[in-house]
Amino acid sequence: MKDSSHQKIARLFQRRWDSHYVAAKLRTDPLYDAVYSELKDSELPLLDLGCGLGLLAFFLREKGLSFPILGLDYDSRKAASANHAVELSKNRDLNFAHHDARNGLPEHSGNVTILDILQFFTPSELETLLALASERVAPGGKLVIRSGLKDTSWRFKITYLGDMLAKATFWMKAAPTHYPTAEDFQKILSPFGSVRILPLWGKTPFNNHLIVLERAASTASKTGAAIEVAS
Ligand SMILES: C[S@@+](CC[C@H](N)C(=O)[O-])C[C@H]1O[C@@H](n2cnc3c(N)ncnc32)[C@H](O)[C@@H]1O
Repeated sequence: MKDSSHQKIARLFQRRWDSHYVAAKLRTDPLYDAVYSELKDSELPLLDLGCGLGLLAFFLREKGLSFPILGLDYDSRKAASANHAVELSKNRDLNFAHHDARNGLPEHSGNVTILDILQFFTPSELETLLALASERVAPGGKLVIRSGLKDTSWRFKITYLGDMLAKATFWMKAAPTHYPTAEDFQKILSPFGSVRILPLWGKTPFNNHLIVLERAASTASKTGAAIEVAS
């Protein structure tokens, strides 16, 4: 994506700090391009959990994807800023709401994204969230996750320090609680479909990985019923 598109998205945010953050994040983080590559051939609606300022949604619209997107975040300030940015952008079918993903998930059948939020969940909260999110992936759809993985690398240590810094500067409401391992993702997600795990740190020093759960197009839900599951 061109720098002018990054600036166009950044201008949707009125607070100067948000606007600088958005421009820098879009310029330096390979995350949004990687998620675009995963979703570009899909028309399924997207549920983005822990959407922050809604960067993924605005990025996907700039790239020409028009499926409906609902973003949820427990930081009401960020959800409100994202909704204000929707009004300025005149994008359609983009909605953001205040919601704590530890309190269940709304009905949804489509693709799901969980980007850079799992460090705030305890192991049991993580397992519950991943199962609820997986149940909301439609046949032929994907759950796309980015997470720092716990391992013995120097990258993992820097990831932890970065998350502590985000809390110290009040950019994040919480300090990191727990980091999952690659084996955790395989164990929790593989009953729902095929799982891929690959590095996604680009030029950053963090131990970030992309984890993709893909449901076969013909797969029925575990219960054999429609995939929409009440929260
Ligand atoms: C590092 S930011 C990532 C934002 C966005 N996913 C992105 O990649 O651009 C983590 C986000 O997760 C949100 N978050 C953390 N715990 C959450 C929870 N339990 N429910 C909903 N949102 C949560 C935070 O408020 C924050 O906006």
